[in-house]
Amino acid sequence: MRPKLIVGNWKMNGSRAANAALLEGIVAGLDGARAECAVCVPAPYLQQCEEALKGSPIAWGAQDVSAYEGGAYTGEVCAKMLSDFACRYVIVGHSERRAYHLESSGLVARKTLAVLKEGMTPIICVGETLEEREAGQTFDVVGDQLGTVLELLPLDAVAKIVVAYEPVWAIGTGKTATPEMAQEVHARLRAQLKARNGEAADGVAILYGGSMKPDNARELLAQPDIDGGLIGGAALKAQDFLAIIHATG
Ligand code: G3H
Repeated sequence: MRPKLIVGNWKMNGSRAANAALLEGIVAGLDGARAECAVCVPAPYLQQCEEALKGSPIAWGAQDVSAYEGGAYTGEVCAKMLSDFACRYVIVGHSERRAYHLESSGLVARKTLAVLKEGMTPIICVGETLEEREAGQTFDVVGDQLGTVLELLPLDAVAKIVVAYEPVWAIGTGKTATPEMAQEVHARLRAQLKARNGEAADGVAILYGGSMKPDNARELLAQPDIDGGLIGGAALKAQDFLAIIHATG
C-alpha cells in the first residue's frame, strides 16, 4: 500500500502575513491525518516555511529549480540553495512552466537530475491539453513527457521520484477529470514506470492535479493508482486543503 501524499502548490500567491495565517491553520487542523503532506511555495517564502513548519508533520518545497548547479545565471535558483532551506520536494515541469516559459521535456529531465543530486524529491508534472485529448493523443503526450525524463534517469533513481498527472484543461478551470479518466492515465504511467524499472515502480507515488477540491477529492483518491493530489487553488485555504488531506482515509 502506497501512503497518500497531498501537496499544495501555492503558485505565485502569498504574502508573509497571509502565509503565516495559512500555515498556522493547516498545522492546527492536522490531527488524525493519515496522508503525508507538503506545501510548495514561492522561493522567497521558503525560510518562513522552514521556521513555521520545522518539527511539524508538513514538509515544504519549491515550485521550480534551475538545471544549472550555480554561477552566472541571473534570476535562477539552484537545487543546492533549495536544499539549504531543507526543501523535501521540488516541482518540475509544471504545465505553466512548459507553456509560459517554453520548458521542454529535455530541460525538465535535467532539472529532475539536479533535484535528485541534492537528495530532494522531484515532483515531475505531465499532462495533455484539451486539443491533445480531443485528438486522442493523451497517452502519447504524457508518455513522451515522462519517457524523456526516464531516459536520463539512472535506473535506481526511478524509485525516488514522484509523478503528477495534471491534465492542462483541468487546471484552475473547475473542470476535473473523472476518477475513471484519471485512473486510466495513472495506470498507463505506472505501466511505463514498471517497464523501465520493474517492481520498484510500485512504490512511486503518482499524484493527480487539476481542480481537486474537498467535494471531489475522496472519489479521485479512492482510485487504485491515484496516490495523492497536487493542489492549486484549494491549497490556499486551510479549511479546503485540510478537507482534502482528511479525504485520504
Ligand atoms: O499544481 C497544481 C495544479 O496546477 C492544479 O491547480 O488545483 O488550481 O486546478 P488547481
